[in-house]
Amino acid sequence: MLFDDIMESADFIRTRDTRRPKVGLILGSGLGSLAESLEDAAAIPYSEIPHFPSSNVPGHEDRLVIGKMDGTEVAVMQGRFHYYEGHGMQRIVYPVYVLRKIGVEKLIITNACGAVNPAFRPGDLMIISDYINLLGLNPLIGENDERLGPRFPDMSEAFSNDLRKKAELSAWRLGLSFRTGVYGLFNGPCFETAAEIRAYSMLGADAVGMSTVPETIVANYLGMQVLGIACITNMATGLAKEKHSHEEVLRTANESSENLCRWIKVSVMKCLA
Ligand code: HPA
Repeated sequence: MLFDDIMESADFIRTRDTRRPKVGLILGSGLGSLAESLEDAAAIPYSEIPHFPSSNVPGHEDRLVIGKMDGTEVAVMQGRFHYYEGHGMQRIVYPVYVLRKIGVEKLIITNACGAVNPAFRPGDLMIISDYINLLGLNPLIGENDERLGPRFPDMSEAFSNDLRKKAELSAWRLGLSFRTGVYGLFNGPCFETAAEIRAYSMLGADAVGMSTVPETIVANYLGMQVLGIACITNMATGLAKEKHSHEEVLRTANESSENLCRWIKVSVMKCLA
């Protein structure tokens, strides 16, 4: 049963590290370097944690790292799971339940995505203001366990207004420019067609990607606040001059990761202020 599995995973993590970080981070493609700079770090490979899924995507390290980021305790998921890997929606979000159980209240999620908004450019960082999920899939489908959250969770503030403001203040403090926009979820693994991108553009998406939404839904369900920061790695299909590749995504994500890391470090401190 999900509830018992979560307890078992959390108990195992506690045997490795007894800290209860209030801030959690889920790092997207090519953005995992943030976990390398933690102080007093304890790294636990996902494969050792009972019931945890594991991923095989290049650019994802697959471990949970608990440590301090400029003095603030954090739990970092270095590597995440995607629907296109063949995991069910419920599996993708399993770590979010466990993060909540070990004490996480605020979840920062990063990802790599394609720009639908023609004003955006590869390398831009975007605060996610909202999401569009047209997949017909939801990680909460199935029997509900009221001990975890409500049957019909509210999503009017899927991304916390408070955390968004804090991230904006942090960016201004650092002199970093940023975008704000709506994230449209696609299942992948193929990149979208030009017609799909036009459709999403008409619906109000500024960027598209293959992650983040399932975790955001469950985090809200569990009563956590979410901050989403997307790294625009390419213009989406139809707006891009070149064909897409995962290498291009990783390259641009790596180039932006220094700014993103600086931004997140300051935001993490502000999160708890
Ligand atoms: N589409 C979907 N996912 C992505 C993209 C894209 O263009 N770039 C990075 N992740």
